[in-house]
Formats: sequence, structure tokens, C-alpha cells
Amino acid sequence: MARIVGGITTSHVPAIGGAIAKRRQDEPYWKPFFDGFVPVRKWLSEVKPDVAVVFYNDHGLNFFLDKMPTFAVGAAPEYRNADEGWGIPTLAPLTGHPELSWHVIESLVDDEFDPVTCQEMLIDHAVSLPMALLWPDQPCPLRVIPVCINTVQAPLPSAKRCWKLGQAVARAVQSWPGDEKVLMIGTGGLSHQLDGERAGFINKPFDLEFMRSLIGNPTWATQFSTHQIVEKAGTQGVELLMWLATRAALPGAVTQLHTNYHIPISNTASGLMLMEAAA
Ligand code: DHB
Ligand code: FE
Repeated sequence: MARIVGGITTSHVPAIGGAIAKRRQDEPYWKPFFDGFVPVRKWLSEVKPDVAVVFYNDHGLNFFLDKMPTFAVGAAPEYRNADEGWGIPTLAPLTGHPELSWHVIESLVDDEFDPVTCQEMLIDHAVSLPMALLWPDQPCPLRVIPVCINTVQAPLPSAKRCWKLGQAVARAVQSWPGDEKVLMIGTGGLSHQLDGERAGFINKPFDLEFMRSLIGNPTWATQFSTHQIVEKAGTQGVELLMWLATRAALPGAVTQLHTNYHIPISNTASGLMLMEAAA
């Protein structure tokens, strides 16, 4: 049976890609952010997961306003990365795991979810940047299954629904007969608002409470409507739904092995968590 080994949640600000390209990791602005990833990479090199399920939100690259799935699951042999306009370097294609992808999709449909299935799927900075942060010196050695959650166009899935999606993904993985070690990754957030009157809005007390809740009281954020999350975390802060789905995909209690929170990176409160699942 496949085993869920843990979860990593991180922000995915495009400027990170520029900082990597220009080797700015040790500059005072960037160091507190990049240093956060050192213990996470150490854990990855010890645990050596085989597969990553990546909960992310597309930003208008693979899906646009004309066709916007609420949930979409990749079932492709590889996922090409492209830049939707930030001018950041792209990654080599990530390798997929179509057999496990289809198992997850079948299990989700049995579980009354209706995802769009993608045998071709372009991935944007929300996937490429976490990979570049977690595997800076080599292409990501894991096979990946991207799970896309709409945060672009209303109506968005509720926090409660994203929680249930994460739980259903965990059930799917745990019923896979293979012996893969599976890592859950969630990318987005934390609080940020890129446009409008509140552009630059960051809510540190809310972010820290949300991060704490994922360990001790993980359904805490499911009490909030989408509008309440926008109010508390900013328009694009709704990306924290990826963190919630990731936590829900870790069955039972988790151990927090590492956390980092740094304000701001670009317009965003950048957060990072490493949670180990119970054996
Ligand atoms: C920024 C943050 C994001 O999550 C994103 O997708 C794009 C830009 C930012 O803070 O610049
Ligand atoms: Fe984003």
C-alpha cells in the first residue's frame, strides 16, 4: 500500500524565480526566505518520497476564464512548465505517474468529486517554484500528480470542500496497491492582495493562527466562507486553500518538523511548513 509520508506547504511568489536566476539567495532581502528551505531539503533527502501530489492554483496558463474547472487532476506522462508572463526561467518537464493519477481520479469520482481530467497540462510558477526551492541542484526526482483548485474565477470551492477534497485524495492514495512513498505539497498564500484598494494587504496574526491551526485544530479554517477568507487574507490570500487541502490529505495527527514565516516577499506573506504524517 502506498504511504503518505508528510506534507510541505509554501508560498509561490514569481519574484522567487528571478532571485534564483540572479543568485540573490544570500542578499538580506532574500536570505530569511531561502534559509527556510534548508531543513526541508534535509528531510527530503532522508525520507526520499517517490511521488508528490501537488495542490496548486493555476494563474491563467493552463485554464483561462472561458473554461475554469473547480478541480482538475493531471493524468499526463509529463508536465511542461511555461511562464504566463512574469519573465522567469522555466523548468524542464516534470515526470508524471499516469497510473496513480487515474487511480486517484477514479477514487475521487467514486467519492462524489467530479474533477476535470488532464492528459495534457501545462504547469505555471505555482508548481515550478516549489520544485526549484525544494530541488535547487537537480530536476525534481519525484513523479508528480498536479491537483488544481480554482482560485481565479468565482465561484471558488469553499474551504470545507477543499478540506474534503484533501481527505478524498488521501483515501485514494492509501488504497493504491503500489509501495510508493507519497508527499503532499500545497502551494500558494499566505495573505496577499495584488490589486484594488487593499493592494499590499498582509495579515500576520491571521496567517500565524492559520499555520498553528493546521497542527492542532486543522479544520479551524473550514468555518470561513470564501468572502471571509478574502477579508482576512486578501484577494489572492485565498490560495491558502491549497494548504488546507494538503493538511487534509495527511491522515490523522501530524508532527510539525519545521516552519518559516517571512514578510514580505514581493506583496506576499511567505510561509513554509513541513509536517510529518504518523507512520
Ligand atoms: C505574487 C504572489 C502570488 O501568489 C502570485 O501568484 C503572483 C504574484 C506577488 O506577491 O508578487
Ligand atoms: Fe499565486
